[in-house]
Amino acid sequence: MADEGEQQLTGELTISAEIWLVCERCGGRIRPTGSPGRCLCGGLYHVEFPRPAVLSTALFEQRLGSWQPLDRSGVWRYRELLPPLPIDRIITRPEGNTNLYHHPRLAEWTGCPDLLLKHEGENPTGSFKDRGMTVAISHARALDARAVACASTGNTAASVAAYAALAGLPSIVFLPSGKIATGKLSQAIAYGARIVQIAGEFDAAMQLVQEASSALGLYLLNSVNPFRLEGQKAIVFELLHQLGWEPPDWIILPGGNLGNTAAFGAAVMQLRAWGLLDRLPRLGVIQAAGAAPFYAAFRSGFRDFRPVMAETVATAIRIGNPVSYERARRAIEFTDGVVEAVTDDEILEAKAQVDRCGIGCEPASAAAVAGVRKLVARGIIRPGERVVAVLTGHVLKDPDAILQYHLSEEQRPLANRPVTIEPTLVALRGALEHAL
Ligand code: F0G
Repeated sequence: MADEGEQQLTGELTISAEIWLVCERCGGRIRPTGSPGRCLCGGLYHVEFPRPAVLSTALFEQRLGSWQPLDRSGVWRYRELLPPLPIDRIITRPEGNTNLYHHPRLAEWTGCPDLLLKHEGENPTGSFKDRGMTVAISHARALDARAVACASTGNTAASVAAYAALAGLPSIVFLPSGKIATGKLSQAIAYGARIVQIAGEFDAAMQLVQEASSALGLYLLNSVNPFRLEGQKAIVFELLHQLGWEPPDWIILPGGNLGNTAAFGAAVMQLRAWGLLDRLPRLGVIQAAGAAPFYAAFRSGFRDFRPVMAETVATAIRIGNPVSYERARRAIEFTDGVVEAVTDDEILEAKAQVDRCGIGCEPASAAAVAGVRKLVARGIIRPGERVVAVLTGHVLKDPDAILQYHLSEEQRPLANRPVTIEPTLVALRGALEHAL
């Protein structure tokens, strides 16, 4: 069934003969010599490449002290676990090297004493998307692609725009009009992407970019592209490395288009198969209640999947028809994972908690923390278990959501309203009465 239906690009000879794309539906195999879209059977591809003969985690440890650009990247440091792309085509900022935080107030608020937050908002453009982007754009460069494109709820667009600018490639991003957080839209504009706003939802933008990619010969940088997922696996590699390769009991992440869920599943499956992991962490995927088709499917024992009309304050995960549903389902099944949903109020409350600890994140990321609290309350995360929640984006991505919470007419527990006063000490004393 598989066919190389994609446009061939001229740099294909630079791609190692060891790399293959395998369709997850029909099992067909093709060489990755074009922009990876869907197989003709409609399935998505994953990347296949051989395990190096010599492989040990000591190799990654040694690279920590190195100043070589590839060693400094929290993606390429793990290059033996990634497809062997030509080194001279790699575009890296470098990405990753994100911190693991513990904060006693968040531990108490969630009811999870051993809670660690992996802050992917510390990536170069402020979200985890950079990890996938460095791999996919390097593949695009190895093929001498002439332009790149994506549909996005904002963060992918910011990352595509930045990495395309680094590589000197034109980029085109398709955004649902009026539904993109200010920080992300500003980044995409600043980095020079051609921005096409779609009068419709993300899911419509996603459909259009897939058609445009094959009709106009654009290299597609959405997570249908399996090279994106290869890079995102490095979130798991790096967090395990930080924990001395001792897996936590849970890894909790927000789910939208479900590319990251798929990548996390692929990472643990690979580490297990390649002999680097003897115990599996369980995955917990958290969706916003207004955009929760994966949660509904999980509740049906994955017997039934229905796209929904998505609406949530967490615009990053405002997605009703996730592209990576099948892969994400396999990730949940393989890791004995769970899917949970949290309301917009729970998301904003969790975000205020994370922000007030001085760590800060965007709303979609806070869904993971709200999810930890809920899973603890439901007895699914058990006392004493170690949990890593992934904060996917930076606090400055969505300033409007911050103002919406803090300036709201409703009584919000952590609301922090600015005051305006006359420039006198008397007025200042009055204003600070309850603050000191
Ligand atoms: N968190 C943030 C901050 C995101 O930007 C996204 C997705 C997710 C979580 C969900 O990840 O889609 O892999 O399940 N943002 C995409 C974008 C859709 O276009 O930036 P997912």
